[in-house]
Amino acid sequence: MKSALITGITGQDGAYLAKLLLQKNYEVYGLLPRRSTPSIWRLQFLGIQEEVRLIAGDLTDFSSLSRAVALAKPDEVYNLGAQSYVGTSWQQPVLTAQTTGLGVLHVLEAIRLENSNSKFYQASTSELFGLTEDPVQSESTLFYPRSPYGVAKLFGHWMTVNYRESYDMFACCGILFNHESPLRGMEFVTRKVTDAVARIKLGIQKELRLGNIEAKRDWGFAGDYVEAMWLMLQQEKPDDYVIATGRTTTVRDMCKIAFSHVGLDYEDFIVVDPNLYRPAEVEVLLGNPDKAKRKLGWQARTSLQDLIQMMVEADLERVRKEVSGK
Ligand code: NAP
Ligand code: GDD
Repeated sequence: MKSALITGITGQDGAYLAKLLLQKNYEVYGLLPRRSTPSIWRLQFLGIQEEVRLIAGDLTDFSSLSRAVALAKPDEVYNLGAQSYVGTSWQQPVLTAQTTGLGVLHVLEAIRLENSNSKFYQASTSELFGLTEDPVQSESTLFYPRSPYGVAKLFGHWMTVNYRESYDMFACCGILFNHESPLRGMEFVTRKVTDAVARIKLGIQKELRLGNIEAKRDWGFAGDYVEAMWLMLQQEKPDDYVIATGRTTTVRDMCKIAFSHVGLDYEDFIVVDPNLYRPAEVEVLLGNPDKAKRKLGWQARTSLQDLIQMMVEADLERVRKEVSGK
């Protein structure tokens, strides 16, 4: 039986990946950072909280990572843990650098110093492209991050490449474009929108305040994207891959899809609030997933329309229960 250690197991991707690996018969370990109330609701939502083994630890604490690697003896380590919200990275740049940047090095060092042969997956991001001049971004596009989050991820990305080249480590970076689901954190724009659509439809919210609704993103479904992570670590050689749908949509049009699913016109409810604009914006992201298709046999299966409808339906169900107190 193979074993895997997932940092960020309580996050959106961590939960979906844990489920996928359990289905593949892995022994799944997850790093659990100390919180006054542990946030295991996503594992509960997927019904796998009893099946994963949680090890106390934090990406900012090297010794806890070393201990986790020694305990789990993982064949594969997936580093998904991060301060992952771009907006917060301007408010907490040092924490973001320590967790999202230096944390990657802590995990790589834990693997190296424990003499572990673990394969390593790093959660890189399309935010690395930032102010790119390439209209379509691929593995060869130059990086130009636009936020403290993007800069921290750049450090993690190059550290991973460097450990692969320095120590012959089986280390891969997945350069994933935005991916969403009913388990997406509430602060990210798709979930903020689908939650608001549910609340407005059920009469408990009047308007939705958003920032830059002309920004464009290449949005896919998280459930599809975790399969690509696993596939990268099953190849003969380690490499880096762009994972995307190859289509881009404005926040405005994503709102249109969400509101029209419940028979509403988004223009009646959206208020553009300049206070929600970012200090530096990534205006357009559009990925070229050809390499992933060719080498991994991976492609996105879920359309944005289906994804947003799935999220609106899940939020309607949850908010209805909240309202009725059940
Ligand atoms: P997420 O839902 O925000 O999950 C982040 C996870 O990291 C949570 O489990 C969180 O635990 C954990 N974490 C935060 N600080 C930590 C620390 N100091 N030590 C240990 N764990 C810590 O993010 P996601 O959407 O699943 O994304 C997974 C990874 O992919 C992240 O690295 C993200 O930056 C990257 N990524 C995401 C996307 C996307 O569109 N979703 C695209 C490209 C790359 P708590 O919940 O307890 O804080
Ligand atoms: N969150 C948020 N809230 N975003 C808004 C809002 C709002 O009210 N209004 C407009 N936006 C715009 C943002 O300015 C951005 O251009 C876009 O919507 C998407 O924002 P997010 O959903 O917060 O995601 P992100 O693209 O900044 O970052 C996500 O994707 C990255 C990959 O490209 C995160 O998951 C990152 O962790 C990930 O690396």
